[in-house]
Amino acid sequence: MFTSGFDPNDVGWRLGRSSQPRGVELWCRYDRTTGVYGEQGSGKTLDLLAPALLAHRGAGLATLTKLDDLLLTAGRRQQPSGPDEPPRPVAVLDPFGAAPGLPELVWDPVAGCVDPRIAERRAKAFAAGTVAGAVTGGRQDNAARFYAAETAKVLQGFLHAAALTGRTLEHVLEWVANPVAAEQPAEILQQHPHAARFWDGLLIGALHGSPDTVGNTVTTVQQAMALFFQPDIRARCVPSRGRTATDLADLIARRGTVYLLGREDPYASAAPLMTAVAEHVLDTALHVAATSPHGRLTPCFLACLDELPSTTPLPTLRVRMANERALGLSFIYAAQTWKQMVVSYGDDEARSLFGLTNNLVIFGGGKDVHFYRELSDLLDDVRISRRTFTEGPGGMGTSRSGEDVRVLRPGDIRRIPERHALVVAGTAPPIIARLRRCLDGKDGQQLTTELDAARARLSRARPDTDDVEQRTAAALAYARDHRLDPSRHVDPADPPAAPQSETRSW
Ligand SMILES: Nc1ncnc2c1ncn2[C@@H]1O[C@H](COP(=O)(O)OP(=O)(O)OP(=O)(O)O)[C@@H](O)[C@H]1O
Ligand SMILES: [Mg+2]
Repeated sequence: MFTSGFDPNDVGWRLGRSSQPRGVELWCRYDRTTGVYGEQGSGKTLDLLAPALLAHRGAGLATLTKLDDLLLTAGRRQQPSGPDEPPRPVAVLDPFGAAPGLPELVWDPVAGCVDPRIAERRAKAFAAGTVAGAVTGGRQDNAARFYAAETAKVLQGFLHAAALTGRTLEHVLEWVANPVAAEQPAEILQQHPHAARFWDGLLIGALHGSPDTVGNTVTTVQQAMALFFQPDIRARCVPSRGRTATDLADLIARRGTVYLLGREDPYASAAPLMTAVAEHVLDTALHVAATSPHGRLTPCFLACLDELPSTTPLPTLRVRMANERALGLSFIYAAQTWKQMVVSYGDDEARSLFGLTNNLVIFGGGKDVHFYRELSDLLDDVRISRRTFTEGPGGMGTSRSGEDVRVLRPGDIRRIPERHALVVAGTAPPIIARLRRCLDGKDGQQLTTELDAARARLSRARPDTDDVEQRTAAALAYARDHRLDPSRHVDPADPPAAPQSETRSW
């Protein structure tokens, strides 16, 4: 029974209602982490992550790959959290320009990297985002993790060197474009008195050695920063004149929401950038918690990490889940399959994450028999007693016997119907829960109307598509005027003009 004035939304989010055993309201405490596993379209977002984020009053972080999922919650997340409260801010990291008109998140990857710990964490986060893409591209996952580690050594050196000398992302990209030839960063790390000691060695070590290894490292470094090589993506995400970086600490203090909107794209994975930004947002939330009067965030900070393995495979997630919930940081993550988690984290780390997750929510309909079998084993058997009646020439008899019966066989888990899920929570027996889809019912109708309105606003804000024909004509005209077009005969004996001598300095 709730005493008057107690609102369960203050301490947790509503998961659903149990249907087996029947009729108990299920709530997840904010200091318990939740992992959601379910195949495409099973309801992870609409039945669990979106409702949790919508009901949450405090600041939050949401990673997503679908524009609709963003539009579904962004409007309500801007509304005040209570009657006398101010509106809440949102900031959307939108590298692909999918959500024009919403406030943008502007972030400087070099800022703060004077501190070697920040440079190291950031580099590792960028590098971690390359693993899943490399495995999908055919590389073994332990090899992908090796090259991610080499990449981190290179990137941490570059970010640190740039920050130490007032350089910007543009300089870092110049080095990334040809890391082996870039001498400046190693020189800076060697000579700058504020540089972390030995980092020049780490950098040089990662870029020298067998040509194959170095070649793969260089490719991985470039993949980690690939999005920034698109000028419009760089212009959208990074500060420039008149576009200052988003003040994340202020946004968190004002109970705002950070959205990181990626997309499933084999050519341009947003995972490296999104992982690095997510780490930064979580570190900022931790800092706000540590410097707040009670040493924790109240209301708590909710991280809804949808499609975790493909959007933000945070290397620090396991440690964060273990340590930070006591400081008011709460985690819900979702993945389509167990295999995706293994690809991104490796078998051991994925299992540790799974083991550390307090509440597991598993949807039916999946095809991964091994995963369901392991779950079935986890739930163990129940001992039931059987009474057997026998009737024979000697008369009637009864006998009792015990028998171990599977609580849920793998096939039973697969057959869990839509809008239902298996909940394995702490020490409680397994529960089949009925979930509430956020688009159902009266409030769902209202939300659908809001979603349609947000879609309409967005399509009005979307700029007219670039006219590629016009740009091609302008480029060709320039090429003709500047003797760059192929019709000009260039005499191979004619040496190109010598480049102007360059004074090198740092
Ligand atoms: N706007 C909508 N209106 C009605 N139904 C929808 C809408 N968006 C999605 N659905 C349906 O709701 C179901 C659950 O969708 P949801 O997005 O929650 O799945 P998911 O588990 O998050 O999938 P994914 O892994 O692809 O993100 C899907 O079967 C989908 O067809
Ligand atoms: Mg989803």
